[in-house]
Amino acid sequence: MVYFALEPSTPRILFKGFNLFPKTIAWKDNRVVILDQRRLPEEEAYFECLDAHAVAEAIKAMAIRGAPAIGIAAAMGIALGALGIDKKDFTPFYQELSSICKTLKAARPTAINLRWALERMRGVCETNKEKAVEAVKGLLVKEALAILAEDIETNKRIGEQGKDLIHANDTILTHCNAGALATGGYGTALGVIRRAWEEKKGIKVIATETRPLLQGARLTAWELTREGIPVTLITDNMVGYLMQQGEINLCIVGADRIASNGDVANKIGTYTVAILAKEHGIPFYVAAPLSTFDRNTKTGKDIPIEERDAAEVATLWGRCLAPRGIKVRNPAFDVTPHRYVSAIITEKGVVKPPFEKSIRRIRGKDGG
Ligand code: MRU
Repeated sequence: MVYFALEPSTPRILFKGFNLFPKTIAWKDNRVVILDQRRLPEEEAYFECLDAHAVAEAIKAMAIRGAPAIGIAAAMGIALGALGIDKKDFTPFYQELSSICKTLKAARPTAINLRWALERMRGVCETNKEKAVEAVKGLLVKEALAILAEDIETNKRIGEQGKDLIHANDTILTHCNAGALATGGYGTALGVIRRAWEEKKGIKVIATETRPLLQGARLTAWELTREGIPVTLITDNMVGYLMQQGEINLCIVGADRIASNGDVANKIGTYTVAILAKEHGIPFYVAAPLSTFDRNTKTGKDIPIEERDAAEVATLWGRCLAPRGIKVRNPAFDVTPHRYVSAIITEKGVVKPPFEKSIRRIRGKDGG
């Protein structure tokens, strides 16, 4: 099978049977190992990144995707980049590292977790600039591994905080993939679903296929099926019908960035689901770590929306879906205004409207 728009562009070492999942990414022998999500569900294949540019490419090409996962990847990219810098003095070392940081930052613009992770890595450099460069390199590797470990813990806490919002025998709609694949492991929206499943609530999941790159069909359905959680796949345009038929009790999605007023950027199509949920009186929940909240973004209008390659819309696996040269729009995310959001589930608690106040309060618990 040929994955046209999804085909990796950089040379890489690919291997199968590595069995890393439920982790999407790992640090192994000073290399970054990534589960190639473009190949799922047909192939569980991994590749190694030997330098930071390969990590940036993997993020850009969406071999690894999902807001928290690309944050972890960027942190590991910095650690990998640092190891490759042959400078003894801090200033030239930091200069070179800053340029690597720029490359990683530019890989994808919408998810704030990427910038958040890079800021954390920069903080390690700033705090330890008096130390020997070799020691700083070791601390950067340690920080990247801490970001990965913390993310898994955070997701489990999100699951714990959100599980009571799910009632026995609920049918839950989720859009895109906010699962183990989109994070360090366990997942945000799927973390809540996993936790409810562990509590034997007898839930069912409806996964939207999520055009154009089919994260719902390829990734969410794959994750849930592996764990025996009942999942039914629908195309994105079936959501309204199913809600009208009373077949959906609640919606849970992830987020790429949450503004200070509670507006939520997430995968394109989330806004449509949220409006439909409101129309049908169905709760619409967002599950996200505090690292997804951007204190520098006042409202959703300030969130940059990534526009991706036309080929992702006009072709599928090497075949044209539309006349060649057709004009295409491909915004990868949309913003759901906070008035459509019933609550936001974080690792520190469930945030409810009025969001501006409750977000400030929960961020306070985060030390900010
Ligand atoms: O373009 P993607 O696949 O990176 O988009 C992913 C999403 O929109 C997820 O819902 C979001 O990142 C939350 S992941 C926990």
